[in-house]
Amino acid sequence: MKCRFKNLIFISVVFSSFTYIFFLRSWGGFGSSQTNGGKYSIIQLLQGKSIVSPKRLQCVKDKLELWPEEIRKIYNEDNIEPMGCSSERDWIIVINGTLQVQVTDITDIQCQATPIVRVNDFTEREEAKITGLVAGSKIPSDFFRLDCIGRKDSLTKTFRTYYSAIKKREKFQKNKRKASRKKWNVLMFGFDSVSRMQWMRLLPQTHHYWTKVLNATVLESYNIVGDGTPQALLPILTGKTEVELPEARRGHADAVQVDNHPWIWKQFSNDGYVTQWGEDGQSFGTFQFRMLGFKDPPTDYYLRPFERAVHKKFCLGSVPTHKQMTNWIDELWRVYKGEETPKFSFLFHSVYTHGYTKQLSIADEDMKKWLKHLKDDNILKNTFVILMADHGPRFLSLRAHIQGKYEERNPYFSIRIPDDFDKMYPNARATLQQNANRLTTPFDIHATFEDILNFDPFEVIDERKRGLSILKDIPLDRTCNKAGIEAHWCSCLSWKKLKITDPLVTKSAESVISLFNSHLVPFSKSCSKLKLGSVISALKLEHNSDVLKFKKSSDQHGRVADLSDEMKADDARIRVDFITLPNNGRYEATVKLNLINNSLSADMTQISRINRYGKQPHCIMDRVPELRPICYCIVQLN
Ligand SMILES: *[C@@H]1O[C@H](CO)[C@@H](O)[C@H](O)[C@H]1NC(C)=O
Ligand SMILES: *[C@@H]1O[C@H](CO)[C@@H](O)[C@H](O)[C@H]1NC(C)=O
Ligand SMILES: *[C@@H]1O[C@H](CO)[C@@H](O)[C@H](O)[C@H]1NC(C)=O
Repeated sequence: MKCRFKNLIFISVVFSSFTYIFFLRSWGGFGSSQTNGGKYSIIQLLQGKSIVSPKRLQCVKDKLELWPEEIRKIYNEDNIEPMGCSSERDWIIVINGTLQVQVTDITDIQCQATPIVRVNDFTEREEAKITGLVAGSKIPSDFFRLDCIGRKDSLTKTFRTYYSAIKKREKFQKNKRKASRKKWNVLMFGFDSVSRMQWMRLLPQTHHYWTKVLNATVLESYNIVGDGTPQALLPILTGKTEVELPEARRGHADAVQVDNHPWIWKQFSNDGYVTQWGEDGQSFGTFQFRMLGFKDPPTDYYLRPFERAVHKKFCLGSVPTHKQMTNWIDELWRVYKGEETPKFSFLFHSVYTHGYTKQLSIADEDMKKWLKHLKDDNILKNTFVILMADHGPRFLSLRAHIQGKYEERNPYFSIRIPDDFDKMYPNARATLQQNANRLTTPFDIHATFEDILNFDPFEVIDERKRGLSILKDIPLDRTCNKAGIEAHWCSCLSWKKLKITDPLVTKSAESVISLFNSHLVPFSKSCSKLKLGSVISALKLEHNSDVLKFKKSSDQHGRVADLSDEMKADDARIRVDFITLPNNGRYEATVKLNLINNSLSADMTQISRINRYGKQPHCIMDRVPELRPICYCIVQLN
């Protein structure tokens, strides 16, 4: 494990001299008190290895801040609306397809169930009541209303609520033969409109547990390919954009229902998987609001009729919606326990984030607990788990800032490979981790699903394809164009070469060196002051003009871009590769250029030393390990 971890960091440094993210983490920044004990320090790992960089990362993204002023302001002004869940505990819960009583103060409970059955995407009906249900009775259908009576202190009490459950299907009863090939479960859970940064702001415990304890990978350079939920989910679920699929929009001639789209769950279903799909926001259903919806249920378990029937806001009785949804997933895993029936599940939650800024934060603790349960119940052993969002928040006030534009384009997207997969394919996790900083898209998720269905570690990926599996090596030189991202969605900074004689270049390198020297001041007796030797190359990184100009989609289908925004960039970046003396240190640094007053500011987290320093810093090595990359001891050892 340790060994693999080292490799992974090494790879990312060697091949991504354009990314500073790893430096940020392992270097901790000079000013920060955080140290990593030097154990996995990149700088150390680089000793003894030569730095060859055959390709460079083409897509460089702006570093997003967690709490910029404008976001904190919006956040502070928003309130959390009371959830309004009932304080009375549900009398009954459904576990593994049977009714179970979970209250002790009510006795002689008897219930009747009213099954809720789908007629089509816009109608459902109630079926004849089933009476005489008691604890231990089997559920009558996936969705039903339960009306119960019972006794409490010799008084008669009543209870009513709705259940989304899993009634086992005949076709899977027979399926007891073990598959010849290992089949991995897929569990994807999403929240509407949550950028990567917003997820970290609103679900900090979940994010921490997910990435730090469960070692899941967040795709930091994940980039949307269109505006809105369908534009995110169609590429993920079909590998295509809406315009590439048959016309399904209401009111358009020849429009058809979406059943014949090449849904990924069909491929899973054909391979013997039980499938589940649902979203809580039924009134604005992703495939029903502008589109005609499904003629037949698209998956074995389809939440829509239930959500339509219950008309809830945030809660169902005492259960908040996020828990109702994760319970429904848990129940699928319980009813189809074991490897005979592989499972594909995707649930997408909207009501907390649709129109609210921070309502989602109420789900943080529960989501973390749920992830812990997935681990404790061994679900992570055979299951790819994906936590995701479709796109970032699209509040107008946020869009008025460049960070808001980037957040909109960079939803949270994270994946964890199953423990058994990790054992079978020891490089998979490192590859995934490396891809975290490469340009990825919803099309890639579709390709990843196909890869999961038929994983071949030896497959050579075809870089010409629009969608590439994130379990394989995503090319470092991938561009928005190659990845199928239109210019106004592309968050990669555009860059051009600068002449090394450009005064701006020298000034940038000097600003970094003076920052170095300021850190060396307290150690001036031990370490030499540094000065500029020569500049090797320099680039200017600028905000992509189409992103600055993009205001919104000017049609309700998100197909026509309104490029009338007049946002001006107020900063740019200078990336400079230079050598200092007397240590012959080679550094690559990204310096911020303020375009309003033309000032430059260097930041220690965005600087990497890219050649070996060997024993140069021996005199402070143990005392101040974080200065190793810049300290050249006045007394040098032979
Ligand atoms: C669920 O119920 C079935 C019978 O309906 C039983 O065979 C199975 O073991 C139960 N699973 C769990 C996890 O309790
Ligand atoms: C996460 O990674 C650490 C370090 O490699 C390892 O010790 C730990 O067991 C991993 N956790 C899980 C749940 O796999
Ligand atoms: C330029 O503007 C930035 C941001 O307002 C400020 O932090 C910086 O001190 C200014 N620099 C100079 C030289 O005026």
